[in-house]
Amino acid sequence: MDKIVVKGGNTLSGEVKISSAKNSVLPIIAASLLSSDKCIINNAPMLEDVFVISDVLRSVSADIDIDNTRNKIVIDTSSICDCEPCGELVRKLRASFLIMGPMISRYGKFKISLPGGCNIGTRPIDLHLKGFNALGADISVGHGYVEAKAKKLVGNNIYLDFPSVGATENIMMAAVMAEGETTIENCAEEPEIVDLSNFLNSMGANIIGAGSDTIRIIGVKELKGTNHIPIYDRIEAGTFMIAAAITKSRFKINGVNEQHLKPIIAKLTEMGVEIKVHGESMIVDGTGDLIPIDIKTMPYPGFPTDMQAQMMGLLCSIKGTSVITETIFENRFMHAVEMKRMGANIKIDGRSAVVEGVKRLTGCQVKSTDLRAGAALVLCGLVADGVTEVTDVYHIDRGYVNIEEKLKNLGANIYRVCG
Ligand code: EPU
Repeated sequence: MDKIVVKGGNTLSGEVKISSAKNSVLPIIAASLLSSDKCIINNAPMLEDVFVISDVLRSVSADIDIDNTRNKIVIDTSSICDCEPCGELVRKLRASFLIMGPMISRYGKFKISLPGGCNIGTRPIDLHLKGFNALGADISVGHGYVEAKAKKLVGNNIYLDFPSVGATENIMMAAVMAEGETTIENCAEEPEIVDLSNFLNSMGANIIGAGSDTIRIIGVKELKGTNHIPIYDRIEAGTFMIAAAITKSRFKINGVNEQHLKPIIAKLTEMGVEIKVHGESMIVDGTGDLIPIDIKTMPYPGFPTDMQAQMMGLLCSIKGTSVITETIFENRFMHAVEMKRMGANIKIDGRSAVVEGVKRLTGCQVKSTDLRAGAALVLCGLVADGVTEVTDVYHIDRGYVNIEEKLKNLGANIYRVCG
């Protein structure tokens, strides 16, 4: 298994380029199943999760060509079947479940393995199933599988108990070709939902309101192929913003959308980080004195849960007390245990973590427990005394394109050991 080795203490400078958003491209790949024409994704991030969902589509006989020198994915689903996708792959990547909505829409029936376990919480799929059911699908769950059957899908009003990103996406995809009109109320408002809606509309769908708490979908007869460039990855950008703050550095980040980064910009600014945005670039200046802050993760436009671990890493090295409350996932503090191995002073009490900044973190071997936890430990390694070895790097590779190369180009003393 690969590990990332970081020798702490370097100041960073220069420029870094952000890739396209993992959490946009995964539902977009799933949405390509809605048309038998070719869909082309340009500037796609070459990530493990993208390769896995592509293999899931291949397991239902889609033809997917990934050109990793040109970051281009061509998806041809003209010869797919309604057969069962490879269960092992589906259990490996939760986002595989996003093919359910498109497959019910296309075939009126579909059977798929239930998603596998997850390190950050139980992550049920009840809201997805409730949505499919409201559109007219009969759902049965048993023996580790979920099966849906529908003579036809018919639009309906669906109220989500929680603004789930995945449920909003899956229901949108099931509803685009349903008969009549569907509304999804209390839906997720994340930028990735807007990107998926734009992708679907460019295929010929009629979706209004993505980005607000109510989405209206007027069913259309069929969808055609399209070309799309996904939005920039706001979580990768946020991770590099914290890299600047934690190392007390100033550098430029290219490939940002200020609107999408508002909650992260607001919190870092409150701490004393100076951020100047010029179009799709920003200069992040973490050279000033920083003060502790409190964070509460919330659905967008609140502070993203996917930035909580990285922010905890930063707060570990800021003098004073900060409180972090995680409201989205019930088990997303596993990185705290690893940070404590590095000398951090963190106390967990249920959904809250009290972080008391320490003078110095100390390098040691730590384990990525999930994708964002791994990135946060790399960030801690950038300022820790001595050498930090981050193991289980496959988690990081799921969602960051060449993180160690990008940090190295900024001046970090970092390398990967393949094993
Ligand atoms: N939930 C339910 N029932 C459902 C669906 C969700 O109770 O049917 C609950 C979950 O258990 C969780 C909360 O709702 O407590 C939020 O889950 P959501 O469905 O919004 O998350 P997701 O769609 O499974 C996506 C991202 C995650 C990100 C969350 C929250 C993708 C592929 N994944 O997951 O990204 O943390 O939204 O913003 O888009 C990551 O990139 O590291 C990552 C975990």
